[in-house]
Amino acid sequence: MNDLRSANLNGKTVALRCDLNVPTDSLGNVADDTRLLAALPTLEYIAAAGAKVLLFAHFKRPKGSTDPTMSLQRLGPVLSAHLGRRVEFATDCIGAPVIDALSRIHVGEVVLAENVRFHPGELENDPTFAQALAAPADVYVNDAFGAAHRSHASVVGLANLLPAYPGFLLRSEVETLTSRLEDPKRPLVAVIGGAKISTKLGVVCALLDKVDTLLVGGGMANTFLASQGHNMQQSLVEAQMVTQACAIMNLAKSKGVHIALPTDGVMG
Ligand code: 3PG
Repeated sequence: MNDLRSANLNGKTVALRCDLNVPTDSLGNVADDTRLLAALPTLEYIAAAGAKVLLFAHFKRPKGSTDPTMSLQRLGPVLSAHLGRRVEFATDCIGAPVIDALSRIHVGEVVLAENVRFHPGELENDPTFAQALAAPADVYVNDAFGAAHRSHASVVGLANLLPAYPGFLLRSEVETLTSRLEDPKRPLVAVIGGAKISTKLGVVCALLDKVDTLLVGGGMANTFLASQGHNMQQSLVEAQMVTQACAIMNLAKSKGVHIALPTDGVMG
């Protein structure tokens, strides 16, 4: 991995991809700022190194079109308060709004660009869209560990267009995971959750070669339970993944890995 500390950022514009996909309450206020706090060390480092920060992030899943309820605008003041630096909002993540916002800030300050997922090109990793994201920047830093598995333009496309570095959060997550998985103390237990198996199939299968026990929670546990014959009623189940979930359970058994599913719950 390249080392961000070896990069000369002075006077540069740095495109920084963070995961700012924070939970919000019914009024749209930040309900948990853990992800914002986790983004601060890299943001602060880049700003203090004399760069302008062009901050890219997604918020929820707008599926390629503008949805004001999924705007990143409300995060600007929160981020600014945490960072103690000016954060200027750009009403789009490409084109004139970004150029204008960058012209309004000084080095050491931040432009927070609007939700990259308002553009279909983000989800498709469209090269033209990636070029447009990259255009105002000199360097790319990826600190969005929570989105690093997405083959999206602001994650993968940008890294192919600009000198690319991992942020401190991404680096520390990768280093921690690598050390835990390559030379673990036994027994090794992994916990995995989230709504869908389909987006985590590769991770689950890779974990079966590493762990002794896999604790499955969240919505994806429902699909595993359904594969074991439980009637999940109206609870979230990925019907098209039930057979696959059953195959994973059998694969785990053949490898001597215990997959632990929830033993109680309330069906929707
Ligand atoms: C998350 O909340 O898990 C990350 O921000 C990734 O979001 P996504 O699952 O919508 O890509």
